[in-house]
Amino acid sequence: MRQPNPIIGNSQPMREIRKLIETIADSPATVMINGESGTGKELVAQALHYQSPRADANFVPLNCAAIPKELMESELFGHRKGAFTGALTDRIGRFELAHGGTLFLDEIGDLSLDMQVKLLRVLQERTVDPVGSSRPVEVDVRVVAATHRDLEAEISAGRFREDLYYRLNVLPVITPPLRERGDDILLLAKHYAEKFAYKSAPVTFSPDFVEALKAYEWPGNVRELSNLIHRFSHCFLDKSCRCAACLQPCCPRVCRNYSLSVVKRQRKLTSRTRPTYCKCLPSVTTMRGYPRQ
Ligand SMILES: Nc1ncnc2c1ncn2[C@@H]1O[C@H](COP(=O)(O)OP(=O)(O)OP(=O)(O)O)[C@@H](O)[C@H]1O
Ligand SMILES: [Mg+2]
Repeated sequence: MRQPNPIIGNSQPMREIRKLIETIADSPATVMINGESGTGKELVAQALHYQSPRADANFVPLNCAAIPKELMESELFGHRKGAFTGALTDRIGRFELAHGGTLFLDEIGDLSLDMQVKLLRVLQERTVDPVGSSRPVEVDVRVVAATHRDLEAEISAGRFREDLYYRLNVLPVITPPLRERGDDILLLAKHYAEKFAYKSAPVTFSPDFVEALKAYEWPGNVRELSNLIHRFSHCFLDKSCRCAACLQPCCPRVCRNYSLSVVKRQRKLTSRTRPTYCKCLPSVTTMRGYPRQ
């Protein structure tokens, strides 16, 4: 059954993405989603599937960076019993599993050159050859690929095949970084405050804190925002985010719940940013090991 779009955001770039999804959902053409980590590439892929006529069949995700190179062929195309040591039974691959539905190839930029050739063949022939079988299997699959890499640069470096790139990049979608989404940042923060409130009250945000949310760069995008609000929901017993400095991992209101070694590690991670000390606590200087440059 077709499902409503789960993507949160009313900013111009997100309205455009939502419109684009509506426009291209019904097409069988291959989609290439490009965007920084945590910008919602998988969410867009799911929205494309669940708004398409394929919604009743499977949405099958496969992270190309997570599967060892030698297992990739069997993972994608399946294998027959005895095809290799350990192939004790027949097993269908992700293409067959996605028959009638959508195959989401995440981190496609990490696919080996060998497998790129095989994938190109499948996209052209619309059949897969399970490992150890001489009988091709027909598949009706819509492929949606995603990557955070610059594939044109990968092509120039000889790491990605140009013919596969053009075969995949029929309908390009670019997920914008969170820092370019204006008021969506607050909208998402409030969504996560509700989500992570569990049985208590959701955290609230002061005007100072909201300004800091909007000014922050968000290198980890929506995933980073979600994790941060999750952390605040646990750490701020008074359920309020009051000060801009609360956004920093070394904020004493957050850190007092952690050991000093965790705080130190976090501070090293963020050594690029100069910590501004949190004004939420009256006597931070009395805290063990904090503040110290
Ligand atoms: N616009 C949005 N509305 C609601 N949730 C969102 C939105 N964008 C991202 N998310 C949430 O943020 C998290 C990260 O999104 P997702 O996994 O789709 O990102 P990604 O671009 O695939 O990241 P990566 O490149 O690291 O795999 C998910 O929990 C997702 O549900
Ligand atoms: Mg992803």
